[in-house]
Amino acid sequence: MLVLAIETSCDDTGAAVVLNGRKILSNVVSSQVSIHQKYGGVVPELASRRHIESIVPIVTEALEMGKVTLRDIDGISVTQGPGLVGSLLVGLSFAKSLSFVTRLPFVGVNHIEAHLSAIFLEEKPPKFPFIGLVVSGGHTSLFRVDGFGKYKRLGQTRDDAAGEAFDKVAKLLSLGYPGGPVIDELSKSSNPKAIRFPRPSLGKNSLDFSFSGLKTAVVNYVKSHPEPAGGYSEELIRDIVSSFQEAVVDVLVKKTLQAAQNQGLRRVVLSGGVAANRRLRERIKEEASQQKVKVYIPSPSFCTDNAAMVGVVGYEYLKRGIRSPLSLNAFSNLPLSFL
Ligand code: KG4
Ligand code: ZN
Repeated sequence: MLVLAIETSCDDTGAAVVLNGRKILSNVVSSQVSIHQKYGGVVPELASRRHIESIVPIVTEALEMGKVTLRDIDGISVTQGPGLVGSLLVGLSFAKSLSFVTRLPFVGVNHIEAHLSAIFLEEKPPKFPFIGLVVSGGHTSLFRVDGFGKYKRLGQTRDDAAGEAFDKVAKLLSLGYPGGPVIDELSKSSNPKAIRFPRPSLGKNSLDFSFSGLKTAVVNYVKSHPEPAGGYSEELIRDIVSSFQEAVVDVLVKKTLQAAQNQGLRRVVLSGGVAANRRLRERIKEEASQQKVKVYIPSPSFCTDNAAMVGVVGYEYLKRGIRSPLSLNAFSNLPLSFL
C-alpha cells in the first residue's frame, strides 16, 4: 500500500510517499527556520501563511521524487494534532480536498504517535512492547507502547518541554533558533561538568519532568555573571550550554531507564527533535547497556518533524480499514488513545 503523507503541525511543511509503512520513496521537508529565526521562535501566523505557499510544491515534489503519480497512491494520511491549529489546518484541508477529488481514503494522525512510530522507518525496528520517550519542542512524555494505537502515558512535563528549554537558553544567550542543534554543536568539545545546574526529579518515583527551574537556574547564572564589554567569552558560553545540556540529558536518561525498570521492559525508543541530540544518544546507549536495556533511536532526520513518520501511522490505520470523515477537524491538544 502506497501512502501519501502530509505534516504541517508546526513550522516545517512535509510530504512523503511511503510504501507499506516502512519504505520511504520520498520524504521532503521545507524548513521555515529562515522566517522565524529573527523572532527567536515560531510565529504562528507566519507559519500558516508559509504552509499555504509551500503545500502544493512540496506535495508535488514528494510525488516526483518518489517517481509516482496520484494514480499510484492508495491512501492519504495527515497530521491532525497536536500542534499549531493554523498550521495543522493547511495540511488537513489540503489532504481532505485531495481525498475528495481523488476519492482516495484518508486518515488523520496524531503527531505524538507519528514521532513514536518514526523508529519503524529504520532497518531493525523494535518489537512491542517498549518504553517510548517523546522529547520535542512541544512535548516531553514517557509512554508504555503495546502496539499501534495502544499507549499508556507514564509521565510528562509539568511545565516546559525539553526542546523548549533548549530554545529558551539559546535565546537567552543570543545563539539563534532553533536552540537545540546550536547547543548540541557548541557542546561538542566542552566540559559538561563546568557548572552544576539542578536536575529536577519531582520525587524519587515520579516519571514526570520539569525544566522551567533548570532554565531559571541558567538565567540566574547568567545574571550573576554580567556580560563584559566585549561579550561573553566563547569558553564561558560553551561551559554554560554544555552544563545545561548535561542536566537535561541526565534527567531524560534516568527517567527513561526508570520507566523501563518499573514496567519490566528491556526496550526503549527515543523520538522527537531532542532525540537528535548527540549527547543524549551517546549517554542513553551507555547507561542502558549497563542495565541490559536495548535502545532504539531513529536517524536524526526522522527525529525532527517529517512526513514519513506520518506515513507509518497512516498505513497502520488505513490497512485496518480505518478512515477519517471529511468533517475531521484539527486540534492544538490531541491526546493519544490510551489503553
Ligand atoms: O520534533 P520537533 O522537530 O518539533 C516538535 O514537534 O516540537 O522538535 C523541535 C525541537 C526544538 O525545540 C529543537 O531545538 C529541538 O527539537 N532539537 C534539538 C536538537 N535538534 C532539534 N534539541 C537538542 N539537540 C538537538 N540536536
Ligand atoms: Zn514534532
